[in-house]
Amino acid sequence: MNRFHRWYCRSDHWFRLADGRLLPWAVGTLPLGDHLLELGCGPGRVTPALAALVPHVTSIDIDRQALGEVRARAPAARPVAGSAVELPFECASFSSAVACAMLHHVAGSGDQRRLVAETWRVLRPGGWFVGCDPLDGLVMRILHLGGTFRPLTPGRLERILHDSGFDDIEVATTGSYVRWRARRV
Ligand SMILES: C[S@@+](CC[C@H](N)C(=O)[O-])C[C@H]1O[C@@H](n2cnc3c(N)ncnc32)[C@H](O)[C@@H]1O
Repeated sequence: MNRFHRWYCRSDHWFRLADGRLLPWAVGTLPLGDHLLELGCGPGRVTPALAALVPHVTSIDIDRQALGEVRARAPAARPVAGSAVELPFECASFSSAVACAMLHHVAGSGDQRRLVAETWRVLRPGGWFVGCDPLDGLVMRILHLGGTFRPLTPGRLERILHDSGFDDIEVATTGSYVRWRARRV
């Protein structure tokens, strides 16, 4: 991530957008079960909202520094350092998974596919995978200059979810964001 992005992920502007609008729009009233996996939690701006929805949250990120902030913001969540492309968890460990604004930061389309397949692997049957991500656009490209920006089209996202084994797939857009909901049956 570029320096602007590191700052923005910690800002109140992002908190209001992510916690107040994007996350509720993505999650809705889906049943998330007892143990949620948060993929790419960053400094944990949305972790407290997730921790309020379920008894247990495990939050993974490749950025160890950000995980320290997760501990402070959401003491109930279990922060784990690692890559969502190779999840360090047993199969069928979680009742749900959430990825808020992280998929476009995953370097290659092969890695994005692996992340979705790994999420399917660690979900229990019946578990929902929910997420939101920015769509491609000039402003988004400028915001990500010097960092990784691999936005997915709604169609490609749907294909990846389908190819990874997910069912009950729903993909929708609003303004500059896409959300998805998909279930491991
Ligand atoms: C824009 S931040 C979003 C943070 C948080 N989800 C939020 O909504 O505030 C994207 C995060 O994805 C993380 N990330 C990127 N690639 C990752 C990977 N392969 N595995 C785990 N986390 C990753 C980055 O380190 C960064 O913290």
